[in-house]
Amino acid sequence: MYIFGFETYGGPDVQGFHRVPVPTVGPETIRIRVVAAGVNPADVKVRSGARQQGFPVVFPMAMGREACGEVLALGADAPAGIAVGDRVFGACAAGTGAFGEQALLSAASVVRLPDGLDPLRAASIPVAAGTAYDAVEELDCGKDDTVLVLGAGGGVGVHAIQLARQTGARVIGVASAEKRVLVERLGAVHVASGNGWEERVGGQVDALLDCVGGDVLAQGLTLLRGTRVRSIADPEGASAAGGVRVTRRRTTEVFGRIATMAAGGDLEIVLDDPVPFEEAGRAVARVEQGHARGKTVVTFT
Ligand SMILES: NC(=O)c1ccc[n+]([C@@H]2O[C@H](COP(=O)([O-])OP(=O)(O)OC[C@H]3O[C@@H](n4cnc5c(N)ncnc54)[C@H](OP(=O)(O)O)[C@@H]3O)[C@@H](O)[C@H]2O)c1
Repeated sequence: MYIFGFETYGGPDVQGFHRVPVPTVGPETIRIRVVAAGVNPADVKVRSGARQQGFPVVFPMAMGREACGEVLALGADAPAGIAVGDRVFGACAAGTGAFGEQALLSAASVVRLPDGLDPLRAASIPVAAGTAYDAVEELDCGKDDTVLVLGAGGGVGVHAIQLARQTGARVIGVASAEKRVLVERLGAVHVASGNGWEERVGGQVDALLDCVGGDVLAQGLTLLRGTRVRSIADPEGASAAGGVRVTRRRTTEVFGRIATMAAGGDLEIVLDDPVPFEEAGRAVARVEQGHARGKTVVTFT
């Protein structure tokens, strides 16, 4: 089978298609025929070698950390109620990737695709929507809060806006001017990014979710009243203001809750135009340029 990935660390020039054996299912994994796989900034960080501490890579390594597809084989510890032929989604097993004709999912993360949720949106849940869900829960927002989301139009931001709004909070989303309509449609007040954005926010905020890092985070912290801050882009930057790293759960239970919300119309999984597997490099490039609009998904026929 073919994967899109890399066999040495580096820039976009090291990525390409590789012919590899079909992965062997282990006790804690489920092998799927991939229908859709989400693209995330983490894929670029892993390819670059920046994640060598703590992120196992086996060359040639398929890119991608999340997928939806049809179950082909089940490990002994697969959850009850999942069978060969079911459509499921979840996070990739450690040391494996998603951009391949077949992929291994972590059995502890797998959810059966509910009615009303398509495979492209399901494939986008584990990394971006899942992170938004964990972060918003940790920020513990409510109706008396104003929540500031930096990078509000990207993969995590578009879902964080909606989840924070569901707590009753007022949400301000900082994103480029092109994303104003999107950010407003999802329920946030849009503030255009770029020079002077922090003055345009117009006051202090009670909680801050940062998806950008660096100077943008530092400027955001000047608006924060208290210590309710999480940065997924720059956790160290947030720790100076009392923030801690978002604890990712990546469980069947959490992904199942998000899938139920999405299937029921209570959470919009925001997709950019899908990209066919044959053009996976274009999908990665779209995310790598740093100005993604919602989620990019690679599709397989
Ligand atoms: N720890 C975890 O588990 C975890 C999980 C997911 C993501 N992350 C990390 O979190 C970060 C964001 O992830 P993502 O999936 O949301 O990325 P993404 O889809 O690439 O979105 C990032 C967004 O930030 C916006 N942005 C860029 N520069 C900006 C600026 N100066 N001011 C305001 N917005 C700006 C971009 O577009 P515009 O500039 O056009 O608005 C884009 O919409 C990445 O570093 C990623 O690796 C960590």
